[in-house]
Amino acid sequence: MKKKTTRRNFLKGAAAAAAAASLPLSLVEFSWGKQNPQNFTLAYISDSHLTHIKGTEFVRNFDKGLKRAVTECNFMSPKPDFVIYGGDLAQLGKRQELEHGLEIMSRLRHPVKWVIGEHDYYLDLGRFWQDKISKLTYSFDHKGVHFVVLNSILTYDSWMKQWETPEERMGNMARLDNPNGSPFMVGEPQIKWLKKDLAKVDADTPVVVMSHSPLYKIFKPWNFWTDDAEQVQAVLKPFKKVTVLHGHVHQILYNQIGNITFQAMMSTAWPWPYPVSYAQKKSQVPKLTVFMNRADPFAERDATGWSILDLDSGRVTNHYKLWENQDRTLRFDEKLKAPVDTRYQDESSRIPPQTHY
Ligand SMILES: [Fe+2]
Ligand SMILES: [Fe+2]
Repeated sequence: MKKKTTRRNFLKGAAAAAAAASLPLSLVEFSWGKQNPQNFTLAYISDSHLTHIKGTEFVRNFDKGLKRAVTECNFMSPKPDFVIYGGDLAQLGKRQELEHGLEIMSRLRHPVKWVIGEHDYYLDLGRFWQDKISKLTYSFDHKGVHFVVLNSILTYDSWMKQWETPEERMGNMARLDNPNGSPFMVGEPQIKWLKKDLAKVDADTPVVVMSHSPLYKIFKPWNFWTDDAEQVQAVLKPFKKVTVLHGHVHQILYNQIGNITFQAMMSTAWPWPYPVSYAQKKSQVPKLTVFMNRADPFAERDATGWSILDLDSGRVTNHYKLWENQDRTLRFDEKLKAPVDTRYQDESSRIPPQTHY
């Protein structure tokens, strides 16, 4: 009897392995017997800020960041089901920058799900992006998880009207600490769309939302901020497992608000500092976050990176891949009901700044 069961399990495993093609048997076995959702792996690349100089010249350092992320995604095992691009492919929204980015990204051997960033948007208001790259707002289902992409970098009409040229508009939105900038928002039409989109999704289905800016409020003067974040969070509230993956902040950052886990992605171009280190204001960086060590100025790629994501039962485990540093892993802790750094969450295990993880 025992032998028979083992053989049957083996056959089930083999059938699942054939269906899942690229997954190693260990992963298939782990997910076997569970109802939806299944386990699978994704990658996340963000904020490459490819910068055009003139003619065919681009800032090589930023090209280098994106090229390495693409190469490493191609070597991933198991292969990612798809790669998410988190926005800010371009620096000033120029056609040359977006085309250059597409050329580098075309070397990826996996499908890409695209999220637009403000640096891609404010020159032509997303025209090139929508013609050549992707829709701005959409959703899809994958192996029992409902994915939603939002364009979270819209802003107020009154701000949009004040610029004489698209370049001026882009320039004023592109800077980190420009008092002439304007807070990001998702906007009423997209929130309405989101409500409608989620109306057909069961509350037990894991939901992963992908936006460029954080769908919560961290630091307004730098636009680490989405003005109508609470309205978006209210729409997500009925769902039991919600993860928001966002770019824009160029650093390891995570938070939990009610049922929603937020995870920030690193940039392949440069790391931003945490707002607390410059501002004379009370820090609004989430208490949960174990800061990443600041970049070593003598290592030009330090504190940049990308992510490999495992979705286990719809919860996201985030393996931050740092360029020349130890990886950091963030996993949702079922007991604490919040994401935790698997090595450094406990304060006594943290390593002082400027000592590499
Ligand atoms: Fe960015
Ligand atoms: Fe951004």
